[in-house]
Amino acid sequence: MNIAVFASHGGSDLQAIMDGCKENKINAKVQVVISNNGDSMALQRAEKENIPHFHLSAKTEGSEETLAKRLLDVLEEYNIDMIFLAGYMRLLHITILEKYNNRVFNIHPALLPKYGGKGMYGINVHTAVIAAREKESGVTIHRVNAEYDSGEIVAQTKVPVLENDTPETLAARVLEREHTFLVEVISDIVEGKIELG
Ligand code: GRF
Repeated sequence: MNIAVFASHGGSDLQAIMDGCKENKINAKVQVVISNNGDSMALQRAEKENIPHFHLSAKTEGSEETLAKRLLDVLEEYNIDMIFLAGYMRLLHITILEKYNNRVFNIHPALLPKYGGKGMYGINVHTAVIAAREKESGVTIHRVNAEYDSGEIVAQTKVPVLENDTPETLAARVLEREHTFLVEVISDIVEGKIELG
C-alpha cells in the first residue's frame, strides 16, 4: 500500500510512520511527503530517508485551486492509496477529499470530539485540557472531511493527565504515545481491520 504523508512542522509523527514501514510493522511504504512549510523538519526527515518530498502551498502554487490540482497530480504520480495528515495545518481541498473519499486520515492529540476544531492545535489543546482539570487526555485518529477534526473516529487511546502536569509535559506524553499508536492504527488500516475507501 502506498501512503502519502502531509506534515507542516516537526514531523515526529511522520518519522514514526516511516520507521514503522522500514521496520515492517506497517506493510506499506511512505511514497511521498508533502509540506506547506518549506522549512519544515518534516521535509528534512523525508530527505534523510530518501523519500520524494514537495513543498507545496497556496502561496507556491498561486491559489487553493492550483494547489489542489498540483496535489492531485502528485498523488496520482505516486499511486497513492491512503493519505495521512500528521501535523498538517491546512484543510485539504474538497476535490482531494472527494477523490480519496474515506482514505484520508488525521491524528489529533486529544480525545475528540472534545478539544478539537478550529484553533485547537498544538499547545492550545493541552492548555485547554489542563484548564478543564481533565484526569485523562489521549490521541484520536479519524477520517478527514471538510471541517477540522470532525470526521468518523477510527481509533482512540487514553493518556493520563498528572497532578503537576504543565501543557508542555502533557504535550510530550501525548506525542510519545502518538508515535506508537500511529504504527498500530495504520497497520490496522493496511491489514483491512479498519476499512479503507
Ligand atoms: C501532533 O501532536 C499531532 O497530533 C498534531 O500535530 C502534531 C504533529 O507533531 N496533529 P509532529 O510535527 O509530527 O512532531
